[in-house]
Amino acid sequence: MVTAVAQRLAAQRREINDTLALLSLSPENLQQVRDKMRVELERGLRRDSHRTASVKMLPSFVYRIPDGTERGKYLALDLGGTNFRVLVVKIRSGIRKSVRMYNKIYAIPLEIMQGTGEELFDHIVQCISDFLDYMGMKNTRLPLGFTFSFPCRQTGIDKGSLVSWTKGFKATDCEGNDVVEMLREAIKRRNEFDLDIVAVVNDTVGTMMTCAYEDPKCEIGLIAGTGSNVCYMEEMRNIEMVEGDEGQMCVNTEWGGFGENDCIEDIRTRFDREVDEGSLNNGKQRFEKMTSGMYLGEIVRQILIDLTRRGLLFRGHITEPLKTRGIFETNDRLALLQVRSILQQLGLDSTCDDSIIVKEVCGTVSRRAAQLCGAGMAAIVDKIRENRGLNQMNITVGVDGTLYKLHPHFSRILKDTVKALAPQCDVEFVLSEDGSGKGAALITAVIDKYLYAMRFSDETLMDIMKRFRRELGNGLGRDTNPTATVKMLPTFVRSIPDGSEKGDFIALDLGGSAFRILRVKVSHEKKQTVQMESQIYDTPEDIIHGSGTRLFDHVAECLGDFMEKQNIKDKKLSVGFTFSFPCAQTKLNESYLLTWTKRFKASGVEGMDVVTLLNKAIKKRGVDIMAVVNDTVGTMMTCGFDDQRCEVGIIIGTGTNACYMEELRHIDLVEGDEGRMCINTEWGAFGDNGMLEDIRTEFDREIDRGSLNPGKQLFEKMVSGMYMGELVRLILVKMAKEGFLFEGRITPELLTKGKFETKHVSSIEKNKEGLAKAKDILGRLGVEPSADDCVAVQHVCTIVSHRSANLLAATLGGILSRLKDNKGNPRLRTTVGIDGSLYKMHPYARRLHKTVRRLVPESDVRFLLSESGSSKGAAMVTAVAYRLADQRRQITETLAEFRLTSDQLLEVKKRMRTEIQNGLGKKTHDSATIKMWPTYVLSTPDGSGERSSTWIEISFPDCDSTS
Ligand code: G6P
Ligand code: G6P
Ligand code: BGC
Ligand code: BGC
Repeated sequence: MVTAVAQRLAAQRREINDTLALLSLSPENLQQVRDKMRVELERGLRRDSHRTASVKMLPSFVYRIPDGTERGKYLALDLGGTNFRVLVVKIRSGIRKSVRMYNKIYAIPLEIMQGTGEELFDHIVQCISDFLDYMGMKNTRLPLGFTFSFPCRQTGIDKGSLVSWTKGFKATDCEGNDVVEMLREAIKRRNEFDLDIVAVVNDTVGTMMTCAYEDPKCEIGLIAGTGSNVCYMEEMRNIEMVEGDEGQMCVNTEWGGFGENDCIEDIRTRFDREVDEGSLNNGKQRFEKMTSGMYLGEIVRQILIDLTRRGLLFRGHITEPLKTRGIFETNDRLALLQVRSILQQLGLDSTCDDSIIVKEVCGTVSRRAAQLCGAGMAAIVDKIRENRGLNQMNITVGVDGTLYKLHPHFSRILKDTVKALAPQCDVEFVLSEDGSGKGAALITAVIDKYLYAMRFSDETLMDIMKRFRRELGNGLGRDTNPTATVKMLPTFVRSIPDGSEKGDFIALDLGGSAFRILRVKVSHEKKQTVQMESQIYDTPEDIIHGSGTRLFDHVAECLGDFMEKQNIKDKKLSVGFTFSFPCAQTKLNESYLLTWTKRFKASGVEGMDVVTLLNKAIKKRGVDIMAVVNDTVGTMMTCGFDDQRCEVGIIIGTGTNACYMEELRHIDLVEGDEGRMCINTEWGAFGDNGMLEDIRTEFDREIDRGSLNPGKQLFEKMVSGMYMGELVRLILVKMAKEGFLFEGRITPELLTKGKFETKHVSSIEKNKEGLAKAKDILGRLGVEPSADDCVAVQHVCTIVSHRSANLLAATLGGILSRLKDNKGNPRLRTTVGIDGSLYKMHPYARRLHKTVRRLVPESDVRFLLSESGSSKGAAMVTAVAYRLADQRRQITETLAEFRLTSDQLLEVKKRMRTEIQNGLGKKTHDSATIKMWPTYVLSTPDGSGERSSTWIEISFPDCDSTS
């Protein structure tokens, strides 16, 4: 009897062992897995076999691991593992190098995972919105790194189309589409906030980056979690799907697909096939289904059903729970020590033996998973070792995933297998503590390294606005003006045109991108009309950098030429001089150049009155320089002609500057308190006292060093058209040097100053044709950009011009808020007149307007583009000056009759004397006109009398006591 029972048990045992033996892998099996994996890796990398390879070897466009110099604040999304997370990651570099993260986990309900793509992405954006609210960051447009843990075919770091859903996801209309685009569109649909999506990253890549930040030897990322996958740094020359041979790129192997071409059918069991058939993606991800957390429980369940069916378990009862898919969750399966109680909780009535068997089954399944991962990993480390031609290699693998973290033996078995199968590699496994979201943020930071400092939150812009307002105050104050950088120069223009101006004037317009001479005729028939004729003259470099005398001679010559062509050589015309440089004016036609800016640097002019210099050059050409105006003032006047509310003028062109109408009582440097006067702020010098050092970048410093006026006009150099193309060029050179662009190739043209022009920035920024333009422009610089290079260059252009618009919005915001306070109204209604080549470029104006409205919400600002340059305005100022001068002349003429010559006075004296004589003479007295009556007062007082008696006292009420 006993023997019979023992025999039955032994037979059962054998059956169970035989079943489990199906899942146990011999060392030879594992070597074969390693070798086949190696074959598939190679096939995935090669162009001719890529299409049919089961391991896709997807390029990630991550070229390097972080080097610790990254910094900034980033947003990250982490989708595809057990949890969906939104994070903000703050990275610091230098001695305070650190990474701080705040995150929130959000649920993704099953009906959304398997609903429509639009629903899924709307849900994601809804979670981001909640997170931004929670963090109080709705208005900070942060760069975002997107960890998306599914196979994506990337064509750039921020472009990836989903190859196929894996694990538990199956949303419709996503496969084949760009996930970054889908996210962008969902953000647009919500229309509530804006984000820069900089990178899309697989979780393996994120994990590798997270670990590499601490350990630069980490060049492999492994996920053993819900899904299973590996990435590693591959030599570019081996990645045939991407152009270029230099350096390395991280490849996302997507090894989960290994075996899709039947190459591991010999080790797949009927249980694996069962699991596959019951999955959302039948036939796919066969290796993943043998190795990852999402499926191990299912394999266990299939084996238990099989054993039960054969009467080897649970007394042969297949209960409902056992039939339920997914009943063995990852964690349940992992905590096997409490197998029995777990089985009981699941409603599986088990004996003690049952528990032992279940435990064995679980052990076998997870052991096989760890060994398979180990064999795969051995193939990878050996490949890297061979790539480098090393006999022996040390390398680190960054690992993440619930299976690896929670299973008691998984990591040990994995390591042992790698050791046995890749003896020439010394492999260390490091657990990623912070998930792959941190890695995604780090990748974003690596890309954003040169750009992060160019993005500003609204808080920062507000702060800059405040600083600028302080500078405005300093420039106006008597005591603070001498050391102020924003000079707040009085212009002696007291009002905008009132419509009564008229006359025939000449305007000179010097200092912008073109030197122009104009004739401006303002007439008054019913309505005021302005006629203008103009001609542009060259200002060759040798003249604007030569002697001042030559420069003004050149201006005079051009003027002579113009007058001749206009046939007005002999006319005496008034001239308005738009001189677009900082000048200290003492009156309208006396203007001392403080310093040259932009491209000008003629000697002997700084500190001189430009009217005197010009008059000297013009000699006697019969013209009269009535007014010198800054281009901002001219622009304000031009726009004021059409809109009486215009009280600010700004230039965003070669240079940048603003003027506005300030209350005279606040202008300490000009006498008088009544009314207003236009102040030329000269805001280009903002920051010359070090006040903007925190926001200047290495590129701004480089621009300044190479400029004609180092240390000066620091704000202008960050924002104006003269410098913008150059800023972009410097960034591109730096990025190319670091291997982020043009495969590291740098051409002599790219290294030449001025080769990248500001107008290129705006044409590249254009949505549709921008990328083609980038290709064209870069092509002319001798670089052959890839599609991704073009996208990256477009990104750089956008960031640099965005920064300019943002900073100028902050300074303009400073002026507007001051105007509002001056007026004391709760809302400001005003018009800003604008001119300048940069402002007129592609998306610039819209950005500026938007930010100004956000920074000064209590205002209704109209932006009016000056259509006719600042010269029309200069003519208006001249007209007013001319009218005032004319009035003075007429008054003088009227009073002329009252003026007496000395002869006339002597004659009067003579006649008066005769008349006095006549009045005194007895004979002549009667006919005298001056009668000379006696008064009988015989003497004047001699000082001996008592004063008080002769004075009448007059008393006034006490002035000091107020009643
Ligand atoms: C990390 C990442 C996730 C990733 C996960 C894998 O934590 O942040 O994006 O998918 O590891 O683990 P799991 O076990 O959750 O699938
Ligand atoms: C207007 C004025 C110029 C001024 C220019 C700024 O057209 O007439 O005097 O300097 O704008 O623009 P720019 O882009 O030429 O520097
Ligand atoms: C996906 C991979 C991912 C892995 C781990 C797999 O299903 O295909 O992209 O890295 O899961 O999350
Ligand atoms: C000058 C300003 C001028 C501005 C715009 C600056 O460089 O200093 O006076 O208004 O350029 O042309």
